[in-house]
Amino acid sequence: MSHTSLRGVMNRLLDPTSTPPAEGEPLLLHGEGNHRIYWVGIRHATAFRCNTYLLIDGEEALLIDPGSRAFFPQVRESVARVVEPNRVMGLVLCHQDPDVAASLPDWLALNPRLTVFTSPRTQVLLPHYGVSGYRFYDVEAEPEYQLAGGGGLRFIGAPFLHSPMAFATFDQCSGALFSGDIFAAIDNSWQLVVTQWAAHTAKMDLFHLDYMASHVAAQGFARRLRELPLQAILPQHGSIIPHDFVPDAIGYLEQLQCGLDVLYPDLS
Ligand SMILES: [Fe+2]
Ligand SMILES: [Fe+2]
Repeated sequence: MSHTSLRGVMNRLLDPTSTPPAEGEPLLLHGEGNHRIYWVGIRHATAFRCNTYLLIDGEEALLIDPGSRAFFPQVRESVARVVEPNRVMGLVLCHQDPDVAASLPDWLALNPRLTVFTSPRTQVLLPHYGVSGYRFYDVEAEPEYQLAGGGGLRFIGAPFLHSPMAFATFDQCSGALFSGDIFAAIDNSWQLVVTQWAAHTAKMDLFHLDYMASHVAAQGFARRLRELPLQAILPQHGSIIPHDFVPDAIGYLEQLQCGLDVLYPDLS
């Protein structure tokens, strides 16, 4: 396969003359050798739209933010255009919220041998979806993961953004950061990629001010991101943040006043 960098794909997606992809069609975001990333999210019109990402590395296929039960058939169909859904070998669950993790029983029914990549605090809650006994990979204990095709993932703790042991996933081959709810946006006029940063921050405010814990939590995570060669940020809601806006996005977190800062301004 020819090299399809995140940056190149972003430019193509932003081209107003390009044809929008058909309903249910996975979108290739990155492809280099045996390493590919697809967007397999939902197009259902809702302000709280959910993104799902399919990561292929050699023989290994992982789903990041697999999503809710309500949209499982849609995501499965989109995945099926790339790989057999029962070949999905892992789910990366950045926290336990139903919009991220409720399809866990459905994916396990397709492949009982798959591995769940998550934190211990999320792992104790996931059995409330009615499943247990699956393979569990502890992202806190082992923050570096070697993919079957030679690529690597790094799990980066994001405490209280918004869940106590939330984490983001950095893909070393592509430079993509799968950020879960962090950098999420609420938006009635959704597009896959951010084109205007200033307008986008208003959409991020709608999410971050209410969900994210505090300025300290946001600043601490931003400091961890500064060390990484990020090419793009791929959140669970809203639009993908391309390379040109990555510094702005980290700056957004560094100055963010949210959650407890807003609720108790006299105590901050
Ligand atoms: Fe959440
Ligand atoms: Fe979410």
